Amino acid sequence: MFRWETSAAADKFHSPPHENEKLAMAKRHRRHATRVCFPEQDAPVRQLPAAGCRDKVRGMENGNSQLVARDLKRSFRMGPRRIEVLRGISMEVRRSEAVFLVGASGAGKTTLLYTLAGLERPEEGTVDFEGQRLYAGSSQTQAHIRNTQMGFVFQSYFLLPELTALENVMLPGMIGGRVMGDAAADSLRAVGLAERLQHLPAELSGGEQQRVAIARALVNDPAIVFADEPTGNLDSKTGEAIMDLLLSLARERKKTLLVVTHDPHLATLGDRQLHMADGVLTEG
Ligand SMILES: Nc1ncnc2c1ncn2[C@@H]1O[C@H](COP(=O)(O)OP(=O)(O)O)[C@@H](O)[C@H]1O
Ligand SMILES: [Mg+2]
Repeated sequence: MFRWETSAAADKFHSPPHENEKLAMAKRHRRHATRVCFPEQDAPVRQLPAAGCRDKVRGMENGNSQLVARDLKRSFRMGPRRIEVLRGISMEVRRSEAVFLVGASGAGKTTLLYTLAGLERPEEGTVDFEGQRLYAGSSQTQAHIRNTQMGFVFQSYFLLPELTALENVMLPGMIGGRVMGDAAADSLRAVGLAERLQHLPAELSGGEQQRVAIARALVNDPAIVFADEPTGNLDSKTGEAIMDLLLSLARERKKTLLVVTHDPHLATLGDRQLHMADGVLTEG
């Protein structure tokens, strides 16, 4: 039986998808792999947004705001060049709404999603989640917020191959110090996998693996689920079924959804679309 014994091990659970994703990114940018850089974990947020920006964002906040980003900036050095990926993005997500983030490959969707989820510290700007300033607390506090209030679904599932579907879904609860066998089994039933609890990921289809990942994202009853191209590795029919499932579970359970997709048809299924290009967002 798989066991998580220490908080250090617990903390690591939040790293694997992140670390793996970094690795995937590094591979994508293999030519520049040695130059791939990520911000220091404990680097301070360098500067508060300008007063004008604060006023603008304050104007759009309301009692139902769950996630508020202010003037996010992030750039990457690529050889001699510096690419400005986030050029001062401000946005707001309300509780229980389904927001789709679309844009061309390389537009910075993943960078923005990770920044909003507390996984990648911006060079400038702030992210407030449920009134708490992400990146202001310790990395342990940030990991706790992610473990208890956020769920994550990734393009390539990020299931641990040596664990069964049930054990994979139990992981977030075990990290929180709870034994969640029943909740994990319920979550797998909710995604239609009641008959697959003891299967290993390799014994499941791509669509089924993504269902396990959705069950894992929901098992801790998070307030928000972040999904980065959750249908990117699936054929269009399976992808649509997965997106329908994610949306219907989120609506039924009143979860906020923030989904990156490159599929313009799927992007219409949510409540709102944000388009990302040239480091800025436009609504519509
Ligand atoms: N770790 C990194 N190092 C260097 N450049 C990066 C890194 N991560 C992303 N980028 C660059 O930032 C831009 C946006 O990347 P990304 O957020 O992954 O875009 P998207 O998800 O929209 O495809 C791309 O030009 C990419 O090459
Ligand atoms: Mg991406």
